[in-house]
Amino acid sequence: VRVAVVGATGAVGREMVRILEERSFPLDELVLFSSSRSEGKRVPFRGEELTVRALEPDSLRDLDVALSSAGSSVAREVVPGAAEAGVVCIDNSSAFRMDPDVPLVIPELNGEALDGHRNIVANPNCTTITALMAVGPLHREAGARQLIMSSYQSVSGSGMKGIRELAEQIEKLGGMEEELVRPDHHALPVGDVYGKTIAFNVLAFMFNADELAWTDEERKLLKEARKILGVPDLEVAATVVRVPVVVGHAVSVFASFSRPISPGEAREILEASPGVRVVDDPDAREYPTPLDAAGIDDVLVGRIRAVDGRDDALLLFSAADNLRKGAALNAIQIAETLFA
Ligand SMILES: NC(=O)c1ccc[n+]([C@@H]2O[C@H](COP(=O)([O-])OP(=O)(O)OC[C@H]3O[C@@H](n4cnc5c(N)ncnc54)[C@H](OP(=O)(O)O)[C@@H]3O)[C@@H](O)[C@H]2O)c1
Repeated sequence: VRVAVVGATGAVGREMVRILEERSFPLDELVLFSSSRSEGKRVPFRGEELTVRALEPDSLRDLDVALSSAGSSVAREVVPGAAEAGVVCIDNSSAFRMDPDVPLVIPELNGEALDGHRNIVANPNCTTITALMAVGPLHREAGARQLIMSSYQSVSGSGMKGIRELAEQIEKLGGMEEELVRPDHHALPVGDVYGKTIAFNVLAFMFNADELAWTDEERKLLKEARKILGVPDLEVAATVVRVPVVVGHAVSVFASFSRPISPGEAREILEASPGVRVVDDPDAREYPTPLDAAGIDDVLVGRIRAVDGRDDALLLFSAADNLRKGAALNAIQIAETLFA
């Protein structure tokens, strides 16, 4: 099997190369692509160093699998042609997620959607995966009706440039904690990625508001949750927030169901769910945090609570490594499912 990682020098692509090695993915050759900016960079893989190549329109045609992680516009340019040429393309961008002919897959939840795929499979948004790994198993047992979610998304969700912007601002503001009590608002550092100060702050608007003032990241949560859970009329409300965390997205969820479900039953269901780790003992200070989720494969779920006066609703909090389960690991699990 000849495998390509497109966007191999990016936040997700780097993690893909690491995970292919960690999981001993059965490949004969790995080919790495980036833009011409990173052409010639060397990336370690299985004791060797691979040289990154600049992606050309036909670069993928002789390969078997392409793990594509270079943004939507690149995906739209190269993925359809490669899929037509017989390459199985697993794409991390939002380019094909809502295409009715393209499965949108979290293998633990809807792996069956891969049946009959046409060589393009979409990987869901990282926040969708963080939320649905917690909600999906409960939905299977009790039928989800409504999800109200707020996210706490790390800067690596915006790629390497998001990490750099936070690091630069932390350096500028480091040691100024007392001044930040009454900041000089005009002197605060503002970068290109977020357009506001992300260090020591939280940002509740991630661009491109629609007619209801929902941002596109919020729409993605709604549409992707409906598609993956197979509930076209699922009620979803979402507020998406960027926080000054390097890796690890978290989501606070209110979920209501078609039948009564207790926190104890939810814990039992989640404890038996692959890819989920229940971390839920606040008295012992055990609950999910992004830092605890960073670098691991499991999605952490905790703060599982009842809602006053409701026996059909729950509150919970989940956290996942957005670069691993939120992106690279999920894509590689899709490839493993297809080639098993
Ligand atoms: N970060 C996350 O948590 C996350 C989660 C889920 C999905 N995604 C999606 O995954 C994709 C990659 O995200 P990322 O966070 O890894 O971004 P990133 O850190 O900015 O990396 C982008 C990668 O794409 C490459 N690239 C850019 N333009 C290219 C071109 N014209 N031709 C070939 N390669 C090109 C870059 O190469 P250079 O080094 O040459 O610039 C780099 O390797 C995006 O679609 C994103 O929405 C990200």
